[in-house]
Amino acid sequence: MNQKIKEQLKGRSFLTLKDFTPEEIQYFLDLAEQLKADKKKGITGNRLKGKNVALIFEKPSTRTRCSFTIGCTDEGGHPEYLGRDDIQLGYKETIEDTARVLGRMFDGIEFRGFRQDYVEKLAEYSGVPVWNGLTDEYHPTQILADLLTMKEQFGYLKGLRFVYAGDGRNNMANSLMIGCGKMGLHFTILAPKALWPKEDLVRLCREYADASGGSVTMSEDTDAVTGADVIYTDVWCSMGEEEKAAERVALLRPYQVNRALLEKTGKDSTIVMHCLPAVRENEITAEVFEANADVIFDEAENRMHTIKAVMVATLGDD
Ligand code: CP
Ligand code: NVA
Repeated sequence: MNQKIKEQLKGRSFLTLKDFTPEEIQYFLDLAEQLKADKKKGITGNRLKGKNVALIFEKPSTRTRCSFTIGCTDEGGHPEYLGRDDIQLGYKETIEDTARVLGRMFDGIEFRGFRQDYVEKLAEYSGVPVWNGLTDEYHPTQILADLLTMKEQFGYLKGLRFVYAGDGRNNMANSLMIGCGKMGLHFTILAPKALWPKEDLVRLCREYADASGGSVTMSEDTDAVTGADVIYTDVWCSMGEEEKAAERVALLRPYQVNRALLEKTGKDSTIVMHCLPAVRENEITAEVFEANADVIFDEAENRMHTIKAVMVATLGDD
């Protein structure tokens, strides 16, 4: 493990992958790989011993909540779940005051919610590392799990041809574009123009890709999957957007990940990934989902190893 990177990650918040260099992202992945191998041998650690970690969830979660809980407990720390109706945040108390209170009691804070500026304010006012467990804009811990899963599948990341099919302007699309851009993948958003990501984010990710040897492209044409190593999808309506269901189905039906789309890759080796939860027969058919279930559930398991790595790298003691 690179000592310099190890030191520069201590005490940092994890709000978006924009804040991390490719070398730092690689460090998280290498650490996660090591923690995963150890856990498979029954070895856990004490790197978070004596650390209390707050888990704030304004939105529901299976994977992220369990990953923070188990990752923290495995390393000797104490996680405390604070659900939407459990604390004063949003009702009686501002995010700044909640941050200052929690920062006096906890050593690290995870936040899942709506607003990206909330997770940023938590980091600014709490004085402890804050980890983004998903906002409307970004879902950075998921990307570490996705990168680790691709590394396990292919043995490398640079040069992989990656197509994200679906809602191209949600938290997953934004964060995958940042992560793939930084790590040298050839990244394509396959979506109707109405659901492409913001231009300033695309421009930024193209700069990352220029530096890493990757690329970032947008397409409305399903031929864009030709040669894809990975096709990735996510729900058509993210949490909080449920009223858009009919509109999204109409816009995104041509981009469903199904057998016909997979055949267009021209490859037998293409894998399909999904961050979960999945809505079968919307963004992905049950047939394609089940055919790729091994990869998809490796990806889900890798949430835990990568989130543990983020907590250990930013808060842990050796
Ligand atoms: N992928 C993901 O974040 O899942 P949860 O919503 O269950 O945490
Ligand atoms: N885009 C989805 C991701 C869930 C992990 C959502 O925000 O609901």
